[in-house]
Amino acid sequence: MSDDVIYDANWASIYDKYTTLRGRIAEADATVAFLEGYAIGGSALELGIGDGRVAVPLSERGARVEGIDNSDNMLELLTRRTDLVKAWNGDIANFRSEQRYNLVYCIYNTFKLLSTRESQISCLRSAAEALDEEGILVIELDVPALDGFVSGQRITTLLLDQENTILHTEVHDPLSQNLASTLLWFSGTSVKRLPHRVRYVYHQELDTMAQCAGLRLAERWGDWARGPFTEGSNRHISTYRRLGL
Ligand SMILES: C[S@@+](CC[C@H](N)C(=O)[O-])C[C@H]1O[C@@H](n2cnc3c(N)ncnc32)[C@H](O)[C@@H]1O
Repeated sequence: MSDDVIYDANWASIYDKYTTLRGRIAEADATVAFLEGYAIGGSALELGIGDGRVAVPLSERGARVEGIDNSDNMLELLTRRTDLVKAWNGDIANFRSEQRYNLVYCIYNTFKLLSTRESQISCLRSAAEALDEEGILVIELDVPALDGFVSGQRITTLLLDQENTILHTEVHDPLSQNLASTLLWFSGTSVKRLPHRVRYVYHQELDTMAQCAGLRLAERWGDWARGPFTEGSNRHISTYRRLGL
């Protein structure tokens, strides 16, 4: 199981700026527009809720949103933003909820922060149990891009502007499908080192794991505007329902 707290104080202190620079704040409206169709007037649970980038606007549109996160630092950012959203400290790899939700969602690559196959399947199992009879699970994940590694290592430039240089270093372990990743963020005279480990999964493996957890694929899209998922897509938004429905 996963008990690592990845999003420490370092991450929390740059999260808003980082998501803004990466275009994720600008994208939040499109994400909410997609999700609200499943939860408006109903209930939603976000896995890895973070600072409420999406949960807060979703709750403002009329959904009862709750969330789980294992970082007190991130939960504190959420609490500062709203008291509309109930969230608790827990591990998305293994959670139980008395409540059943219309929508459970895990977006912005949070699923791959679970760095073992077992924790990913366990997360899907917990999510399936948290869905009500007709509920839907939404997962947003990048398509793995493994080009450019030399001797199992890769350095890419994520962002370069007048004030910021963000480099991404990765070490690949193909046996466990793990990437030990570190963001190096240079800004002015400061440098922050932000390590995290991910287990990448292709969409078909995700479907198989979901099936093991009692879920079946309902839809797959290439973006939040329901563009098609094609061989050129760099991410997918996949929805699952409970098997038998
Ligand atoms: C990429 S951020 C996404 C935050 C938010 N979902 C969003 O879209 O802005 C990942 C979040 O998942 C949380 N997280 C990572 N691993 C977790 C785990 N095993 N259990 C609970 N939360 C986790 C982190 O603390 C962080 O807040």
